[in-house]
Amino acid sequence: MRITVSVNGQPYTRDVEPRLLLVHFLRDELGLTGTHWGCDTSNCGVCTVRLDGVPVKSCTVLAVMADGHEVTTVEGLERDGELDVVQKGFVECHGLQCGFCTPGMLLTARWLLERDPDPDEGTIREAISGQLCRCTGYENIVRSIRWAAEAQAQAQPQPQSQAQAHAPTDAEARQ
Ligand code: FES
Ligand code: FES
Repeated sequence: MRITVSVNGQPYTRDVEPRLLLVHFLRDELGLTGTHWGCDTSNCGVCTVRLDGVPVKSCTVLAVMADGHEVTTVEGLERDGELDVVQKGFVECHGLQCGFCTPGMLLTARWLLERDPDPDEGTIREAISGQLCRCTGYENIVRSIRWAAEAQAQAQPQPQSQAQAHAPTDAEARQ
């Protein structure tokens, strides 16, 4: 079957077997090996990508089901040479050891911060509960996502305070 899938903003058209899984389409057809494949039972979550913005396990999705849809992989997180804030968080807080689970964790973290910019620890743990870290580095993964939430909040333009909004002009101040 001929399909066209937009991956990280770029359209790719390929002839594929109807049984081809999205994870294999990304890795083997497109060479996007940042998406990992770690089990045959759909429970490790290292294959997580975003399909129309929603995190999915790409080993449970057929490539043909992504036809006409938008996929984001870990390769799409960086913008213009600048790491996404969640990537920076994982660097700052040592959120990875072997790195096998990291691409999926990053994509879920990005999704979470778009829905909830200030998630508490329980919310973060629930969001990543479908993904296994074989190195068991959950403490630092949670810390990394919290770091990213705080960095993202600091990067937002602050609303002008009342005083700043009505700062007197020189003329007003002299009156
Ligand atoms: S590869 Fe393990 S859940 Fe997809
Ligand atoms: S860092 Fe090794 S599996 Fe998570």
